[in-house]
Amino acid sequence: MDLSSNQQPEFDYLFKLLLIGDSGVGKSSLLLSFTSDTFEDLSPTIGVDFKVKIVTIGGKKLKLAIWDTDVMLRCDALGMASCRVYDVTRRETFTNLSDIWAKEVDLYSTNQDCIKMLVGNKIDKESERVVTKKEGIDFAREYGCLFLECSAKTRVNVKQCFEELVLKILDTPSLLAGSTGVKRNIFKQKPQPDASTSSCC
Ligand code: GTP
Repeated sequence: MDLSSNQQPEFDYLFKLLLIGDSGVGKSSLLLSFTSDTFEDLSPTIGVDFKVKIVTIGGKKLKLAIWDTDVMLRCDALGMASCRVYDVTRRETFTNLSDIWAKEVDLYSTNQDCIKMLVGNKIDKESERVVTKKEGIDFAREYGCLFLECSAKTRVNVKQCFEELVLKILDTPSLLAGSTGVKRNIFKQKPQPDASTSSCC
């Protein structure tokens, strides 16, 4: 891929999305399901996984850079949008998310425009479900975020999940005007001399 030529931009906007949540909730599976339409049994992610997908949503050609990370709080400060994933069959993954969320509201209260989505995964395991859809809806309402339930395995609502998140970003002028959302290619940028400022992800 030649990123150095000055031809037609390959996309209108570059959006950074983060997948956050406890180990085993299905973040990597969601990423794989969305970016390559496949589902397989994956080994745990250590640190950060990263994938790029070009999609057309809302009439715009978008380059989505999606991080799957086990690094929670600090990475969120870098993203313009995040999917907070829990497993509907494991209550602690839902409870942990609400603890993190409450802490973040305190820590990053200045970052109001960062779009957040709560995602309940593994709804194909309906007989093992312990977190109800209503609990998810209530939580999302309390924290003013988007909400969807999905299954990375059957791919139900996986595409919708990323689409809703992106449509919300497209609908938030302050994010489009920000440095991570403007029409440019971050991969063209030279590395910053002070590497210590970009050590998080
Ligand atoms: P870490 O890499 O440890 O952070 O985990 P993760 O959140 O990325 O979870 P991962 O995608 O590795 O999935 C964990 C396990 O759950 C794997 O065995 C997946 O096959 C399984 N899994 C993920 N999504 C689904 C789903 O929607 N339904 C079912 N039944 N299993 C799923």
